[in-house]
Amino acid sequence: MSFRELPHIKARPGDIAKNVIAVGDPGRVDLLSQLLEEKRVVNEHRGLKVVTGTYKGVKVSIATHGIGCPSAMIVFEELGILGARRFVRVGTTGGLRRDIRVGDVVVATGAGYTQGGCGLGQYMPGICGATSPHSVLTARIMESLSRNGVKFLAGPVYSSDAFYAEDPSFAERMSHLGFVAVEMEAAGLFALGWMRGWETAAVLVVSDVLPSEEKVFLTTAELADKFTSVARAVLDVFSEL
Ligand code: ADE
Repeated sequence: MSFRELPHIKARPGDIAKNVIAVGDPGRVDLLSQLLEEKRVVNEHRGLKVVTGTYKGVKVSIATHGIGCPSAMIVFEELGILGARRFVRVGTTGGLRRDIRVGDVVVATGAGYTQGGCGLGQYMPGICGATSPHSVLTARIMESLSRNGVKFLAGPVYSSDAFYAEDPSFAERMSHLGFVAVEMEAAGLFALGWMRGWETAAVLVVSDVLPSEEKVFLTTAELADKFTSVARAVLDVFSEL
C-alpha cells in the first residue's frame, strides 16, 4: 500500500523515531529540542509541532500531543503508525496532596480516569483499561532521575477530562482515593501502550497544588529548568536502550 499522508501528523515514514518524548505545548518542543542534535521539524500541522533529531547518537522525536486524551491519543496513534514504539509524556500536573509543592516531580505508576472517559469508553466500552505504564521503562527513568539529581514522588495520577470542572472538594476526594496528582493524558497513553505493544511512561512537573490556600500556576518560564532536567534524564534512558 502506498503511503499518502495522515490526517494530523504530516510527517513521512522515516521522519519519526522509535523513541518519543511527548509534551502538551509546542513551546516545550522548542525548549526540549535544544537538547537534540541534527534536528529538523517534521510536522507543524495543527500546531502539533514535532522535531526529530539525535541525542548521544540515538534518534529521538519530541512531539506535541495537545491537551486531553482525545487530542493526545490521535497524536500517539499517528506517531505509532509512523514508527514510534516508546513514548514518555513529560508534562505538567496539579498536586492533590498538601505535602506536594510546585516544582516537585511526579512519576506516574498508574493512571485512573472517569469510567467511559479519556476516549477509552469508545476504544473499550464497558472495560476499565490497563492504565499502567511500562514497568521496566518507568523503573529505568526513576533510576536516571536519581542519577541526574532530580528528586521525585512515584504514585498514581488521575487523568481528568475537564480542567475547569475541579470543584473545591476535588483534591480532597481524589487524594483520599489514593491519587497524588491530576493531569489529562496519561491514562490514554498507558492504555494505548498495552493495546499497541508500545512502552510508555509519564514524568510530570507539578505546576499547581490544588489544596493550597492561594492557587498559583507556575509559568512556562518558571517550569523550563525542571522540564529540561526531566527530559535529559529520559533522553539518557533512550540513549542506553
Ligand atoms: N495539569 C496541570 N495542572 C492541572 C490541573 N489542575 N488539572 C488538570 N491537569 C493539570
